Amino acid sequence: MSKISKIVLASGNAGKVREINKLFAGSGIEVVPQSDFGVPEVPETGTTFVENAIIKARHAAECTGLPAISDDSGIEVDALDHRPGVWSARYAGEDASDTDNNDLMLKELEGVPEAERTARYQCLIVFMRSHTDPVPLISQGEWEGRILEAPRGDGGFGYDPIFYVPTHDCSGGELSLDVKNTLSHRAIALQGILQQFREHGYI
Ligand code: IMP
Repeated sequence: MSKISKIVLASGNAGKVREINKLFAGSGIEVVPQSDFGVPEVPETGTTFVENAIIKARHAAECTGLPAISDDSGIEVDALDHRPGVWSARYAGEDASDTDNNDLMLKELEGVPEAERTARYQCLIVFMRSHTDPVPLISQGEWEGRILEAPRGDGGFGYDPIFYVPTHDCSGGELSLDVKNTLSHRAIALQGILQQFREHGYI
């Protein structure tokens, strides 16, 4: 099995590129954002994280001719029947801000007791050797918590201020980025994909 030295990331998010390259340090793999190749964003038309991750990885691989990696993530709330899921960024509307989304979630959960406010972040990472790869590698990471009754802390992004982290007795918005990056759904999914790279002899 041949080694892989360069992978395109199906995202232009500089924070994600940094996080992934930090974790991949020493693996011989360099991750480059698709924006470096002028790859346009592709509509995320799937109803599951894995579908959207495959759509994005396939598109990046097709546009660049490189192996591609993508991630799709969001939050699922048990009392909301696993919503907002793939619509996490668009929960309160197409142009919703993080505050709009958090406010709507707190409103929808009004009166729901603590024990029933369980929720988890989900992250799906997909790796495709080329856009015609029939067996994408798939890695899932979960981060378990529950939805608070009011925001706490101003760190993180998205739902972090209303996401209670039982292992650290604080909200996601109160964690340092370094600590979050050891616990998060994305960190777990990335470790998993790295392990699959080892098993396949790519690194
Ligand atoms: P993306 O797929 O990484 O762009 O994430 C989609 C949406 O899920 C984000 O816009 C956030 O609303 C939510 N989300 C994903 N990961 C996190 C996280 O680590 N903290 C807070 N919100 C997150």
